[in-house]
Amino acid sequence: MSEPSITIRPETVDDAAAIERLHERTFGPGRLAKTAYRIREGAEHRLELSFTAHIGTLMIGSVRLTAVRIGEAKALLLGPLTVEPPFRARGIGRALITRALAEAKAQGHQLVVLVGDEPYYGTSGFKRVPKGRAVMPGPVDPARVLVCELSEGAFANVSGPIRPEREAQ
Ligand SMILES: CC(C)(COP(=O)(O)OP(=O)(O)OC[C@H]1O[C@@H](n2cnc3c(N)ncnc32)[C@H](O)[C@@H]1OP(=O)(O)O)[C@@H](O)C(=O)NCCC(=O)NCCS
Repeated sequence: MSEPSITIRPETVDDAAAIERLHERTFGPGRLAKTAYRIREGAEHRLELSFTAHIGTLMIGSVRLTAVRIGEAKALLLGPLTVEPPFRARGIGRALITRALAEAKAQGHQLVVLVGDEPYYGTSGFKRVPKGRAVMPGPVDPARVLVCELSEGAFANVSGPIRPEREAQ
């Protein structure tokens, strides 16, 4: 029998409980103390820029994007990105990132920032932020603060603290 195909679609409000369980299983309670969570507490993620992966009726992966500012510049924070362990290393994580970046670009966004592993995200166009150029509101390894320009040169003159879009208004 052939394997059922994987679909990626925008997150809906009905996905919230399953995503929360996935995050709990993946990251444990320690996730709530992470610096990126402070930002996500200050602004809801954007459903139309967040995506879930499914096999049949089973949700097997999720990526979320949240509106932030870096200094005065508008940007999006990517994360959490999670794929259910049995479905990893099949390109689902990369497909979720690709879809989210494409949708963000289509909606006119220019910058996406995240805290994560450069060897993984580098293949999706993320580069290390020069130390101090974009500062998370808490302790993070500066080598893990990465940015992706959705239009060429979008990060050139950008610097400052990363904070939720709500606070920036
Ligand atoms: C990270 C994660 C989302 C990747 O999902 P995935 O669907 O397995 O990713 P893909 O299939 O697109 O890519 C898999 C490849 O990335 C590599 N990879 C996975 N995590 C990596 C990491 N942290 N650093 C470097 N490479 C990594 C795998 O070894 C694999 O390599 P291969 O293609 O040479 O075999 C998944 O492993 C996961 O949910 N991990 C736990 C949560 C997590 O760490 N999220 C990221 C937080 S920053």
